[in-house]
Amino acid sequence: MKHKQLKPFPENFFWGASTSAYQVEGANLTDGKGPSCQDVKKVPEGTSELDVCADFYHHYKEDIALMAEMGFKSYRFSIAWTRILPQGTGEVNPKGIEFYNNVIDECLKYGIEPIVTMFHFDMPAALDERGSWGNPESVDWFVNFAKVLFENYGDRVKYWLTINEQNMLTLVGPVIGTLHLPENCTNVIKEIYQQNHHMLVAQAKAMCLCHEMIPGAKIGPAPNISLVYPASCKPEDIIAAQNFNAMRNWLYLDAAVYGVYNAILWSWLEEHDATPTFADGDEEAMKNAHPDFIGFNYYNTATVAHEDGSIADGEFGGDQQNGVGASGFYKSVRNENLPKTEFGWEIDPIGFRSTIREMYSRYRLPMLVTENGLGAYDKLEGDAVHDPYRIKYLQDHIIQIQEAITDGAEMLGYNPWSAIDLISTHEGMRKRYGFIYVDRDEFDLKTMKRYIKDSGYWYKKVIETNGADLSND
Ligand code: BG6
Repeated sequence: MKHKQLKPFPENFFWGASTSAYQVEGANLTDGKGPSCQDVKKVPEGTSELDVCADFYHHYKEDIALMAEMGFKSYRFSIAWTRILPQGTGEVNPKGIEFYNNVIDECLKYGIEPIVTMFHFDMPAALDERGSWGNPESVDWFVNFAKVLFENYGDRVKYWLTINEQNMLTLVGPVIGTLHLPENCTNVIKEIYQQNHHMLVAQAKAMCLCHEMIPGAKIGPAPNISLVYPASCKPEDIIAAQNFNAMRNWLYLDAAVYGVYNAILWSWLEEHDATPTFADGDEEAMKNAHPDFIGFNYYNTATVAHEDGSIADGEFGGDQQNGVGASGFYKSVRNENLPKTEFGWEIDPIGFRSTIREMYSRYRLPMLVTENGLGAYDKLEGDAVHDPYRIKYLQDHIIQIQEAITDGAEMLGYNPWSAIDLISTHEGMRKRYGFIYVDRDEFDLKTMKRYIKDSGYWYKKVIETNGADLSND
């Protein structure tokens, strides 16, 4: 059989990696930083607090130098809202501004493109007390924060991401420590989707503001997109897959790209008496915003079956990649064709290609992979970390990006999770993703020394050859 000729990765492809502020920086109340919802939440039992993390705050120079050593072309990181505005609104903290100036300048020194996420799961605690995203004023809080960022960093940062995984904030908020529910809430679905609506409007306004304030800048959303498979070719399962695709994926991209609500999801909200209230101008704000690209995180696909009404509505459970279901709408099932990671997430590289194809067919925008990766228990042996399992995972996924490019999709870059070991959303320090190992344990801070893992040396060669050599010899 003749093998298909794959198209090469584009020139200037952003090979890099990602982190988020609250998971990597530590120094969570240092130099005027205010607490975020992550700093006041109760961490899951047996996992580390978020006060030190990888201590990137004090090690950023060394860490960015290691990224440069691996040849990174881009580094996707988030800005902690409460480093910039300790109370979320009001006084700007000059030390916070200075820190990210330093991080950005350090990246640029090595020719690394800074790709900045404006919000990654870390609502200021002061604003949480005022109702978080449930407060209609949250739209203005976010736009005001965006303005401060564009004013201070817009001269050097040309790639912006609005809200990381807004779909996960909505679907599994309690698992990642972000859900704020008012006392005596009678319709949880309505409350959550009202919060979601405020985020959609805040995002739309921030995208417009970015285009007004920073000529030439590009901005896009960063949801977690996983194509949803039906458990079988039974027509009822196909409907369930369309339902969950609408709820998990297309709601977020239809709103960001076309400024409209996904019809299937909207009718589900109607059934639950949970459609969000639109303030004056919301509809127009959503229509006016046009992202330049789609940033998206991909870990694996989801598989669902018909749900006959036995699941309770508004029930939480699972995590970003393991769902539960919604009454009469869909229920998550295990895909027996796929292996799992040590932490129970399915692994589906081909699903990466089909997810990209589907997004491109629907939205026709260039795409930037903002996360992908393998969480595992890594071990430091002498000065080395041998992680062939991660190399295999990354190889298998990168080749599928190339397949998708060959299928016609426009891809801007690949920024897997994570540049350096950091604290997982709910599984502590032991679940590591980094190209760089940090010598600390869950509770013992040890030396905090950094070591490039085997996967980091391998990635260096991938970047040097612009993805032409993925081998691991
Ligand atoms: C994404 C988040 O959901 O997945 C990251 O954007 C997160 O913040 C990553 O760390 C991996 O998930 P986890 O739960 O293994 O940390």
